[in-house]
Amino acid sequence: MYAPSSHPWIPGDSLGQHLQQRGVSRRDFVQFCGGLCAVLGLGKDAVPRMARALESLKRPSVIWIQLQECTGCVESVIRTADPTIGNLVLDMISLDYSHTLMAAAGHQAEAALQSAMKTNAGKYLLVVTGSVPLNDDGIYLTIGGRTAKTILEEAAAGAAGIVAVGACAHWGSVQAARPNPTGAVGVSQVIKDKPVVNIAGCPPIADVVTATLVHYLTFGRMPATDGDGRPLFAYGALIHDQCPRRAHFDAGQFVEVFDDAHAREGWCLYHVGCKGPATFSPCPIFQWNEGTSWPIGAGHPCLGCTERHFWDTMTPFYGRLPDIGGFGVERTADIIGAALAVGATAGVAAHAVATGIHQARLKRQLPVMGTPGAPPSSSSPQPKE
Ligand code: SF4
Ligand code: SF4
Ligand code: F3S
Repeated sequence: MYAPSSHPWIPGDSLGQHLQQRGVSRRDFVQFCGGLCAVLGLGKDAVPRMARALESLKRPSVIWIQLQECTGCVESVIRTADPTIGNLVLDMISLDYSHTLMAAAGHQAEAALQSAMKTNAGKYLLVVTGSVPLNDDGIYLTIGGRTAKTILEEAAAGAAGIVAVGACAHWGSVQAARPNPTGAVGVSQVIKDKPVVNIAGCPPIADVVTATLVHYLTFGRMPATDGDGRPLFAYGALIHDQCPRRAHFDAGQFVEVFDDAHAREGWCLYHVGCKGPATFSPCPIFQWNEGTSWPIGAGHPCLGCTERHFWDTMTPFYGRLPDIGGFGVERTADIIGAALAVGATAGVAAHAVATGIHQARLKRQLPVMGTPGAPPSSSSPQPKE
């Protein structure tokens, strides 16, 4: 088990008792719940309920299996800003198996997996990263002599809930791109008798994973999802409708090549391939690495990585959407661009102000749980309205 804590959770203690022992203040804990409620799109009224539910938790078991993948999703999750993966792992869940994060390896790791599944049968949460190769009896991925399909089916059989993290677990990702030589599929194409929540993205944003797990721990069920199994709190809006460059799109101001002056001025990346108009994701709001940046923020077009089969449907990555077929954005963009050529500056300014207000409202900040002995933070943000 991954537990590098100087304050181990005493068996039988609730989360509330454990936090008290660690010296985490009630104030910080409630702020932490408030931040998560904001991420989940819940109102202030949900904060006391979340606090009560989490406080009474008796450390639930989580088993995390990694199949045909690149480890990028794990790398993304362990960079969760708030709560840190340390808080998540040590204070809310018992990560009983994760072959990247656990100290054990080889036979010891496999024994840990079997033990965790047996001890917590019917109660553990199963997190999966990676796709499942089905061609040629699944020989393209075996761990401990067992195929990915067998490992997944066994782990899913005893799981209370299943979360597929990342594009690989969602639908297969790059392994499933044409011609898909290994026959890679996502978790929900193998597990048909239980609902699977898909945290889309390559990789997904860590805070979305965290919030989904906390929703499950709080309410005993997964968050509401769209038709593709993606949580609506995160994937309910197009990137294009949340993008800080949207004012330039509306004004017909486009970057034409990556090193032109307009690229440096932050104009819209639609002409150099941005798939934001066809991609549902919270990237502009949540961002990565404690809100440091995200692809479009760094000057790169969105590749559409939260959308199923994006390696085939969103390519060429540096081509405009209509070149790919099925989108009507081009005509709209050109018409808007021509119509707004006059007075574009005023339009950009007005939209920028509106976008700024929108971003400020939506921008969620999660307070980190206090460390033992540390004074309560006066800068911890409040949950959003
Ligand atoms: Fe790697 Fe992307 Fe698959 Fe995650 S979804 S394991 S980042 S290829
Ligand atoms: Fe933002 Fe891309 Fe939409 Fe332009 S096309 S506004 S860069 S999401
Ligand atoms: Fe992926 Fe586009 Fe976000 S490429 S990371 S959905 S900006």
